[in-house]
Amino acid sequence: MSTAVATPNIALVKYWGKRDEDLILPLTGSLSLTLDVFPTTTTVTVTAGADADDVVFDGASSTGAAAGRITKFLDLVRAQAGSTAPARVQTRNSVPTGAGLASSASGFAALAVAAADAYGLDLDEQALSRLARRGSGSACRSVIGGAAIWHAGTDDASSFAEPVHGPALGMVIAVVDAGAKAVSSREAMIRTRDTSPYASAWVASTTADLAAMRDAFTRGDVTAIGELTESNALRMHAAIMACRPPIRYLAPQSIALFDEAARLRAVGLEAYATADAGPNVVFVCRDGDVDAVRDALAERFEAGRLVAAHAGPGAHLISEAAA
Ligand code: PMV
Repeated sequence: MSTAVATPNIALVKYWGKRDEDLILPLTGSLSLTLDVFPTTTTVTVTAGADADDVVFDGASSTGAAAGRITKFLDLVRAQAGSTAPARVQTRNSVPTGAGLASSASGFAALAVAAADAYGLDLDEQALSRLARRGSGSACRSVIGGAAIWHAGTDDASSFAEPVHGPALGMVIAVVDAGAKAVSSREAMIRTRDTSPYASAWVASTTADLAAMRDAFTRGDVTAIGELTESNALRMHAAIMACRPPIRYLAPQSIALFDEAARLRAVGLEAYATADAGPNVVFVCRDGDVDAVRDALAERFEAGRLVAAHAGPGAHLISEAAA
């Protein structure tokens, strides 16, 4: 029985599009911050005598598509471990599932670390990141603590996340809507690639943004990091909105929150907005400014839906399988 904990990460340069659907190789690299809030806790127990995997989400046995994705992922672990034994997977999520708050990232990062240990695989951080990537692309970054860069790579071996050094950053999450999103990121990425006239522009501009972001991290330039973050997110949403049929993740309140970031900057508080595949908006700022940003946002947005976050650890075991 192996238990692991992982938390979501929020990308400053986004991953949006795959060049290999099966291996989950991205069209571009990306860069993110793993947070210290909304942990997923996953326990994997190898059940040698059982007929099939048993997947339990928040105490309830599951047989739907989500359970199927977990079995498919366990098959990869079993292939590496030379095992055919089923497993019981018990997961507790404290982040609303499917709401663009990166529950798949924390979910598959925790599952990768727990399953590798349960099946007796001895994987280093890079190998765990590659494994987590096969469950959900962004999960490879939640294996890493703090800021992480996911190298696009050219094959399974070269596409993984690793730490990137830079200034201490924090985030404030504004939960606009905690419900599940209408179109999955997997499907929306394909539609963007196939129907958005801005798909190739997104790839070219994100490649340039990632290089500029790495330079900004090296310089410790929070202003450049923030400006690139906000612009990269809006470019991703522009490419998505241009799909046919269109997909729009940002709600009117999301747009208003981007205006809030500009309002804070105008009064000298540096905060920049970003949003994933959902209406929630995340503000990035200097780590020491997190409370001030949250308090300033609370003047116009319900305080109970603002979550202050700092850099958190990568996915890790909290209890290991008996040797
Ligand atoms: O890993 P997925 O399939 O959940 O895709 C995540 C995509 C974004 O969250 C929108 C961007 C990112 O880089 O995390």
